[in-house]
Amino acid sequence: MLTASEIKDKFIKYFVDKDHKHLPSSSLVPHNDPSVLLTTAGMLQFKPIMFGLEAAEYKRVTTYQKCCRTTDLDNVGKTPRHHTFFEMLGNFSFGDYYKREIISWAWDFLTKELNIPTEKLSVTVHHKDQEAYDIWHEEMGIPKARIVKLDDKDNFWAAGETGPCGYCSEIYYDTGLENGDGSPDEKAGSESNRFLEVWNLVFMEFNKQEDGRLIPLPAKNIDTGMGLERITSVLQNVANNYEIDSFKQIITKIEEISGKKYGENTNNDLYFKIIADHIRATTYLIADGVKPGNMSREYVLRRIMRRAVRYGRLLEINGTFLHDLLPIVIDLGKDYYPELLEKKEQILKTVTQEEELFNRTLNNGLKILNKIIDTHKTSKEDKISGKDAFELYDTYGFPLELTVEIAEENNLHVDHEQYQIEMKKQVNRAREAHNSSSLNDVAMHMNLDNIPATDFTGYDEYKTHAKVLAVSFSLDKKEFAFVVDKTCAYAESGGQVSDKGEVTFNDKTFKLKNVQKVGDYFVHVIESDKAIFDKDAQIIISVEFSERVNTARHHSVTHLLHQALKDILGDHVKQAGSLVNEQISRFDFAHPNALTNDEISKIEELVNIKILENMPVTTNVMDIDQAKKSGAVAMFGEKYGSKVRVLTMGDFSKEFCGGTHVNRTGDIGSFRIIGEEAIAAGVRRLTSVAGLSAYRYMKEEENIINSLTTKFKVPAKDILTRVEKMQLNINDLERDYSNLKTTVALGQVKELTKKVKEVNGIKFISEKVDIQDMKALKSASEDLLNRLDSGVIVLGSIIDHKVNFVASVSKDLVKKGISAGNIIKSIGQTTGSKGGGKPDSAQAGGGTEVDKIEIALAQVESLIIV
Ligand code: ALA
Repeated sequence: MLTASEIKDKFIKYFVDKDHKHLPSSSLVPHNDPSVLLTTAGMLQFKPIMFGLEAAEYKRVTTYQKCCRTTDLDNVGKTPRHHTFFEMLGNFSFGDYYKREIISWAWDFLTKELNIPTEKLSVTVHHKDQEAYDIWHEEMGIPKARIVKLDDKDNFWAAGETGPCGYCSEIYYDTGLENGDGSPDEKAGSESNRFLEVWNLVFMEFNKQEDGRLIPLPAKNIDTGMGLERITSVLQNVANNYEIDSFKQIITKIEEISGKKYGENTNNDLYFKIIADHIRATTYLIADGVKPGNMSREYVLRRIMRRAVRYGRLLEINGTFLHDLLPIVIDLGKDYYPELLEKKEQILKTVTQEEELFNRTLNNGLKILNKIIDTHKTSKEDKISGKDAFELYDTYGFPLELTVEIAEENNLHVDHEQYQIEMKKQVNRAREAHNSSSLNDVAMHMNLDNIPATDFTGYDEYKTHAKVLAVSFSLDKKEFAFVVDKTCAYAESGGQVSDKGEVTFNDKTFKLKNVQKVGDYFVHVIESDKAIFDKDAQIIISVEFSERVNTARHHSVTHLLHQALKDILGDHVKQAGSLVNEQISRFDFAHPNALTNDEISKIEELVNIKILENMPVTTNVMDIDQAKKSGAVAMFGEKYGSKVRVLTMGDFSKEFCGGTHVNRTGDIGSFRIIGEEAIAAGVRRLTSVAGLSAYRYMKEEENIINSLTTKFKVPAKDILTRVEKMQLNINDLERDYSNLKTTVALGQVKELTKKVKEVNGIKFISEKVDIQDMKALKSASEDLLNRLDSGVIVLGSIIDHKVNFVASVSKDLVKKGISAGNIIKSIGQTTGSKGGGKPDSAQAGGGTEVDKIEIALAQVESLIIV
């Protein structure tokens, strides 16, 4: 009996022997492909090749690919075949072989290499794909009764909402009458478990657009996928995928841990299967760099792991157990996926931490949920409120779906809508507090009672000796956070990013990652997987000097910019937001129109003049009323205390501001506006650079100009004239080229006169030509008709991957009832080309069935009837 690994090896060898290159599986985290969350099929890594964006280094490729699909999560364990993680065996042709070869190889592999009796196999094809049908029936000899024609739902495969797609043909294994709906006529593709799909052959020829249109890919490709677990279950003759050799070892280990036996109790079997499936997904996802979390694929992983933990509880496993399964999964896959060994430590650590984290709250959460369920049962209320579900998520780490699952087991459902409202409320709360949500987590567990507000010393110093007043540690985020009596590190506010720097404790130095304000406290965050010091520790905080200076330049320059905008555009300009960091300054303000180049130049110049005036930058803390009276500009909608800090730059600008700034405007160096755009109705955004960033930006532009002068061999001032001249040249060349195309077209016309045929005594030409322009195609057709005097001309040409036709009919034949319009309409249906026209002249275009152009042209003969 072949093991799963042996089947995998056989498959790869078979295709390598047919000149395929064996390439490694790609990561479960798709590379540069936002259209999918996880790798769900073998072809995903080859999409750029199919789109024609990348050249195919190998035209024939074979892989075993790790895949993860979450669409089937609810079915895992309940059906014999569904998994989150599975392996897909595949072979691919990029513009090389097509239907005939792959059908015959697939058949050969299954029946000769794997020795599956032919009568056990049936196939499905798309009902419009007669070619595939004929190959299966006539060339492979499969009886018609075992070839099922199905529609798009079953036999059209697409990689996602958009992208490569095409008709497919699936091969099914008949597991026996006893597994079906009882009818001996049951066929492949039916709902029951009798026919098991083992291999999907996709004929990839289209690229699906967002609006649903199918446009041909640059080449016709083959993409196949065979689920390794399924084909193994067939060859090992077991009732479900979880009983194949590679799953058996995992199940045995779960038996050992739980003290229960697989195969004795249906409910327990379900839990065995779910845990076995989920531990594989967990291992492979972490090996590919996914960490458990609350968003996107991180959430998928967390959900899968927490489900596994909960099903462990249902098997009455107390305490942590997932990490005990990992060595088996890693051992089973290590020869095929080297990352499992490389990341072994990481996998063990992540699983242990997440399991501990969840275990800590699971019991309490389950108690609360059970209580909720009990109250619902007594009150006969069948809906758990979104608020309760949210609290279970927020406080006990229950993914919503877990609550839903447990609720459903008790015939209850959950108010999803209200859950989402609660989630939104929390996000807003976090935003209002100016916290990132991750910070909220760590700050939440910090005891801030009776602690004085943090004293910010960073206006005057870059290094502070401080005393630690509170600490907190977030295991899942691997963040250590603390609050001190005083700090020189700026916390993100007023659009200015937080300082980065270092924290020294007992001669050891740690990187300061982030500082955020939570009320009056500055919460400092260090990335660390253990707590570093405790309350009362004496530490030294220092900020990264050059980053601080560059940020100050960008902050100070926004004040100059704000005033310059008022001076040049008018007093209506009001700041609507800003962001400054060490690289850029972004300033949003109310203004109805896009700025002209002239306005931008004037603003930029005024700011630079104010920089060169080298005005002193001073600050004053004063009462808010006094500050307002002094004419200082406040940010609209911002809440200020009774005392405010006012920042003055010479006699040019005066604003409320708590940020860190340069000492004199000259310290800013220089200033360039590099972008202008609208971000909302009536709100513009200017992006600028100052200081070293401005110098670098100008240097980059200079480099571009220098390469242009080298390339064109003219001084910089002449580049524009040079380019204009080239443009004129290009126009001339395009005209010449178009004339040339017409000449070539006419050349083809001459050749075509030799292809005149006759039907019912009427001369006609119906041919495919290579004329890349509709107008030229039409004149070619008219020219041909002139040469014939009396006759019918139909020409077809593929222009921009679309089928186009023109037809011309001589006047005498029009009188006899032959119509160019009717001919065009009729043959256009074959290729999907749309159009029509008059009896003597007609045209159609836009047909996507490019490979049917010859069939359409052959139909013309039968349409010439008098
Ligand atoms: N890409 C095809 C599938 O996943 C082979 O079924």
